[in-house]
Amino acid sequence: MFFERPEAGETAILVHISIHSESEQEDPCEFEELALSAGAVPVESITGTRKQPSPGHFVGAGKLEEIAAAVRAHKAELVLFNHSLSPSQERNLERALKCRVLDRTGLILDIFAQRARSHEGKLQVELAQLQHLSSRLKRGWTHLDRQKGGIGMRGAGETQLELDQRMIGQRIKAIHKSLDKVRGQRQQGRRSRQRAEVETVSLVGYTNAGKSTLFNYLTNARTYAADQLFATLDSTLRRVDLPNFGPAIIADTVGFISHLPHGLVEAFRATLEETASANLLLHVVDAANEENQEYIDKVQEVLMEIGADQVPQLQVFNKIDLLDDCPPRLQRNEQGKPVRVWLSAATGAGSELLLEAISELLADGMVEETVVINPSQASLRSKLYGKGFVEAERIDECTGSYQMSLRLPREELARLQQEGVQLIEREAESAPAQRAARESSSDDALNHGLSSQSA
Ligand code: GTP
Repeated sequence: MFFERPEAGETAILVHISIHSESEQEDPCEFEELALSAGAVPVESITGTRKQPSPGHFVGAGKLEEIAAAVRAHKAELVLFNHSLSPSQERNLERALKCRVLDRTGLILDIFAQRARSHEGKLQVELAQLQHLSSRLKRGWTHLDRQKGGIGMRGAGETQLELDQRMIGQRIKAIHKSLDKVRGQRQQGRRSRQRAEVETVSLVGYTNAGKSTLFNYLTNARTYAADQLFATLDSTLRRVDLPNFGPAIIADTVGFISHLPHGLVEAFRATLEETASANLLLHVVDAANEENQEYIDKVQEVLMEIGADQVPQLQVFNKIDLLDDCPPRLQRNEQGKPVRVWLSAATGAGSELLLEAISELLADGMVEETVVINPSQASLRSKLYGKGFVEAERIDECTGSYQMSLRLPREELARLQQEGVQLIEREAESAPAQRAARESSSDDALNHGLSSQSA
């Protein structure tokens, strides 16, 4: 749109060069999957090694000729580099190869642009794309004459470059403004859920592990699941009713990938922050993928980067239908805590084990206690109601005090005890009745939280 480049098509040559000086090498297999995800049709992969990238064309003259020959032989319309290219390298390569060249960041941005569904997701992608483009304009086109620009769409003497930069700058500003608004709504939704003490369970995992499929199965929602990387770009929230627990929110999140370009991590920070504030993470793993341990480690790295590595985790080994003789099962650690569930999101086998494990883990941080509130502690009583902790209440006719059955986070209980709340031995009450009370008290706030999310 902003400057002339060769038209991009789908027939693609992939280029992966091992650079000795780079400590972290990109994975060529993942690169091919990324290319397929973007809708490219790879016709040839060219590999090589170099001590370090050449400043002009990234590759040396011999390799450049090899790529050019492949482009001619296949009538390729696109050359994809599994590396970050500088703007001038990209431009020099396009000139030499006479076809569109895209680096790894450009490729990932393209995939993100195709997949973004919500308003926020689309804004995030556009912002990242414009920032990528504006760095290219700044550094790539400085050889053009700079003239003093006038006011208006194309001021007298203003160069195309200056016009492009000004338009991009204005658009970036407008996107930031819209994003602030959407994020405000998101935060409001999150606060409502926190006020209602509704637990949030966030699905995380390497891209293509099956998060959306599992999300759909658990919530009966129809979100888009495709056999392509990054089918999900927006954190999508839905309510589920967990057996023996009550309502919770399940959040589907963007698929993780190794070495996500920094600009993208920034653009998606708000979505990822949702993950850091979850009560439990379901780390979905493709059990049928032989390299899954590597992917587990990569996901852990991203979780650390976004400050979500302290959130309790349950591993979900998905796609067991693709394995021989692998029945659904729930694995526990030495303390008897659920740590891993083996299931198939496609067939639903093992999903009841997952729900059981989630309920157990969420309930772990909650305690049920009966307390006595004296008539003089009226404000404390209304605070307990306000926070939705109360499951049942009885008045002692003789003393006028209240006996209240509470269900609340362990640390809240400790705080209340400091405020003078006295515990008494818990009364035997029917669990279903308690749950019904809890569900109805949290319903309004929960629905409010969800509706501001989808606004
Ligand atoms: P991103 O949004 O890219 O992060 O992917 P995702 O983790 O949400 O994966 P998604 O649910 O889109 O599933 C990826 C592919 O795996 C799709 O083709 C699904 O049909 C397939 N899939 C998911 N779960 C299962 C399963 O249990 N068994 C089998 N055989 N395929 C599955």
